[in-house]
Amino acid sequence: MTVATAATAAASRTSAASAPAAATRPPGGPPVRVPCRFLGWGAAVPGGRLTNADLEARLDTSDAWITERTGIRERRTSGSGETTASLATAAGRAALERAGVAPSEVDLVLLATTTADTPCPSTAAHVQHALGTRGPAVDVNAACAGFVYGLHLAAAAIHAGGLSRVLVIGGERITAITDPDDRATAILFGDGAGALLLEVAQPAAGEAGPGLLAVDLGGDGSAIPHLGIPAGDRYLRMDGQEVFRRATRAMATSCEAVLDGAGVSAEDVALFVPHQANRRIIDATAARLGFPADRVAVNIDRYGNTSAASVPMALAEALDAGRLSSGDLVLLSAVGAGLSWGSTLLRWGA
Ligand code: ACO
Repeated sequence: MTVATAATAAASRTSAASAPAAATRPPGGPPVRVPCRFLGWGAAVPGGRLTNADLEARLDTSDAWITERTGIRERRTSGSGETTASLATAAGRAALERAGVAPSEVDLVLLATTTADTPCPSTAAHVQHALGTRGPAVDVNAACAGFVYGLHLAAAAIHAGGLSRVLVIGGERITAITDPDDRATAILFGDGAGALLLEVAQPAAGEAGPGLLAVDLGGDGSAIPHLGIPAGDRYLRMDGQEVFRRATRAMATSCEAVLDGAGVSAEDVALFVPHQANRRIIDATAARLGFPADRVAVNIDRYGNTSAASVPMALAEALDAGRLSSGDLVLLSAVGAGLSWGSTLLRWGA
C-alpha cells in the first residue's frame, strides 16, 4: 500500500483481490516528510567466498550463464561462528563508530532479516546485547524489502515522539536457507549486513532538511507459492521467471509512486539504490525510471543477493565512495518474498 494516505491504502486493498497491487495502484500521494539525520552507516560480510567457478565445479551451471543471467560473479558465505546476529552486530557497530555515538545513546534497534538465528528470542535481542544499546530491539521480516520497511518504522517511531536515535540494520545469513544443490537459487544468494543510524531532527525552514520525503510499501500474497520456504522444507524455493516478472513491475511502480509522491523526477535524484536481486531487474528498473548507470548503486557482482542486507550494503558502499553529499536525494527500493516491496526517498544529511 502507499503509506502516505488512507485513500491510496484503500485503493490498494481493493485492487489486491483481483490483480497484483503494484500494477493497479494509482501512483503518487502526499509526501511523508519525517525530518531526521543520518548519522552513520556500516556494512559487514563474512569471510567465506563462493565464486562462479566454485559453483561450476559442483552444479550443472557455468560462469557464463550466471554472469549473463544475473550479473553475479561471487558471494560471501558464513562459516563457523558467523551468524545473522554477528554480521548485524558488526555492521551496527561500524555505523555507531562512524557516527561517534555510544551504544547507550541508541533508543531502538530494528533488524530486518529473513534468517533469524533462532525463532525466539529475536535476533535483534542478540544484537542489542552484543552492542550494549539501551532500548528495545525487534526483528522485521519483509524478506528482501525488510530494510526499507525498517526505515519507515524507524521514521514512524521518531515521528511519534520519544525516540531520538534508531539503528536500522539489514542482516542475513541467507545461505543457511539456500539449497546448495538447487542451481536455481544456489547461484543467487550471499550473506552480509548493512546498517544506518537515524536521529530525530527539527523540521527545516523551506523543508530542505534531511529526512524521509516519501514512502511506498506494498504486499501481494498471491505470490507466496512462487517464492518462500514451503512447510516441512528447510530451503527457499523459487519460480525464478514468475518472481522476475512480478519483481520488475513492482519495483518500478513503487519507485514511481515515491517520486510522484515527493513531486520529483529521476533527474532530481543523485543516487538510486535498488535491491541487488538480479542485474537485469536493476537495469530494467533504472532504464524505465530514467537513471543512467552512473547514478545507480550496483554491487551484485561481488555479493549476490543478500536479501534484506542488500540495500544498506549498497548504500554504505556508495557513501564510502563519496557518491552522496548533504542535501542529495536518494531513492531506495526493494522487492522480496511475499511479495513484499518498499521504496523510500531520502534527503541525505547528517
Ligand atoms: N545454470 C544453468 N542453467 C540454468 C540455471 C543455472 N543456474 N538455472 C536455470 N537454468 C536453465 C533452466 O533450466 C532453463 O533451461 P531450459 O530452457 O532448457 O528449460 C534455462 O536455464 C532458462 O531458465 P529460466 O528460469 O527461464 O532463467 P531466467 O533467465 O529466468 O533466470 C533467474 C533465472 C536468474 C533465477 C531469474 O529468473 C531471476 O533472477 N529471477 C528473480 C529472482 C529474484 O529476484 N529473487 C528475489 C527475491 S529473493 C528473496 O526474497 C529472499
